[in-house]
Amino acid sequence: MKRYYIGLATTFHDPALAIVDAEGEIVFAEAAERFLQDKRAINAEPDHLFRIAHLVKEYCEQDAEFTIARSWSASSSRLPFLAGAASRLGLLSPDWLPRAPLDGWSRTLLMRRYQLHHLMLCVQSAHLKAGANLALVMRHRFGNRKLRFLNFDHHLTHAAYACYGSPFSEAVCMIVDGTGEHGSISCYTYRNGRLDRLSRHRGPESLGGLYMLITELCGFSSFGGEEWKVMGLAPYGRTDEAIYRLLRPMIKVAGCGLRYPPMRQLRAGLTRLCRYRRAEGASALEAADLAHTWQRVFSEIMDELLQNLYAETRVDNLVLSGGCALNSSYAGRVFESTPFKRLHIPSAPADDGNAVGAALLAYEQTAGPRKTRQKLFSPYLGSRVSAETLTNVARWSGLRTLRHLPETVHLEAARRLAEGRILGWIQERAEFGPRALGNRSILADPRPREMKDRLNREVKFREEFRPFAPAILHEYGEEYFENYQESPYMERTLRFKQEVRAKVPAVVHVDGTGRLQTVKREWNARFHALIEAFHRLTNIPLLLNTSFNIMGKPMVHTVEDALAVFFTTGMDALVIEDYLLEK
Ligand SMILES: [Fe+2]
Repeated sequence: MKRYYIGLATTFHDPALAIVDAEGEIVFAEAAERFLQDKRAINAEPDHLFRIAHLVKEYCEQDAEFTIARSWSASSSRLPFLAGAASRLGLLSPDWLPRAPLDGWSRTLLMRRYQLHHLMLCVQSAHLKAGANLALVMRHRFGNRKLRFLNFDHHLTHAAYACYGSPFSEAVCMIVDGTGEHGSISCYTYRNGRLDRLSRHRGPESLGGLYMLITELCGFSSFGGEEWKVMGLAPYGRTDEAIYRLLRPMIKVAGCGLRYPPMRQLRAGLTRLCRYRRAEGASALEAADLAHTWQRVFSEIMDELLQNLYAETRVDNLVLSGGCALNSSYAGRVFESTPFKRLHIPSAPADDGNAVGAALLAYEQTAGPRKTRQKLFSPYLGSRVSAETLTNVARWSGLRTLRHLPETVHLEAARRLAEGRILGWIQERAEFGPRALGNRSILADPRPREMKDRLNREVKFREEFRPFAPAILHEYGEEYFENYQESPYMERTLRFKQEVRAKVPAVVHVDGTGRLQTVKREWNARFHALIEAFHRLTNIPLLLNTSFNIMGKPMVHTVEDALAVFFTTGMDALVIEDYLLEK
């Protein structure tokens, strides 16, 4: 009988769901935040009660057998440790640091008792309700009791998603995140589809946790997932030696693990560090030196970890995942500071990706090795917009500038982009992962210098320092970037060549870099055709590409979401599939 594998990412933040079919192919993957339109969907279930029935109907045969795979192992005895480790340095606002009374074992965990209690409730409730909605719907709506539940180690689900979707037959894999069941770093070897754990860091030390603390001190929200604002801000600052002397001894590398200094020293350092917190209402640029110094420390620690991993394994192919792998600035310079020759980072390295990892592990455990290997996973695994709603808009909206252009929409779009218009672009299936890769994007001409400020001010409503990324035709990568590397998921930041920077100033960050997306025809034919058309008009083979959302919201999910953003921002035109709408 046919069997489906439904993977659930069951951390209390970034819940997600993936479906793998009987052939081992990923047929669907999406973070809950998209459907809910609630950034990061904190405390939400990955298998939303009303949504899950639709997904099962659309992607599965309802009377098949189902395996429900969860992205944390079942050991509830680990949960208090998990809660403490995840939050030890920064998951919650570090307001307490200079003044809070600590007592009992909350003293050991460096947090207030009520904060610990709340966090534990979040973690425990996510764990307890993981898969409950899905089981309810399967049993009572579809009358299907052929359900099997599996739980997998958190870091193993990260590694499975990252390695199975890599182009390598042999690699080493490092997972670096806030924490797993036992600690924040795990290493694996990957050979011919087989994953073996090489080492596991055990303890509360966490680079991801420290990153969250710095995010808070810079005046951003770690709960809101704003670590990348720290990364975007860093190039505006310089190393502050005083901050460096505080930060650097705070976390040490030991093999492929981490160590904190003695507790008294750590607490004293953290307390002094809090003096650098950005004041309420102060410009983000005030925190640029802190962000810059942290990025340096982060990179030094990652360098040491990866150098140690290489020394141990001597394998040239590296797979990097976990939340820290979202640091594209570091990813772009891995080859400069470590001996690795090739790098793969998946499109969703944070906890949402674990839905796919859990489903694939369940498949392999049940059905054996998957047939298709050494093939990059497509990131276009999410929902389509409703064709019916699009037809309704065409019929009922009364919008006179709405046109159906099935043959020429990309040509018309390219022409408007070349004229300096800002364009919303929605096509086919949504991206899985945090970056818009040409299917839920806002696009613009990278040539006008003022385009960046205009987009930040009039469309995204976000801070003036935030950079925009280039989506470039692969054939021109070498021409535009130093030491060009393919970056299919916008996962690495590279330096623009000096001679091209003035051509595309809207996508060149203040330090001369860009977080590029490599676009190939075989990965995304329609988006490739659009950039090609823009290239023919302008002689520029790249577009400014940013996610289709406004600050603080997830990427748009429906036609209605897209129209709401279009009509409430300074966007000039909107393409949804074959429809073009202009203001
Ligand atoms: Fe994780």
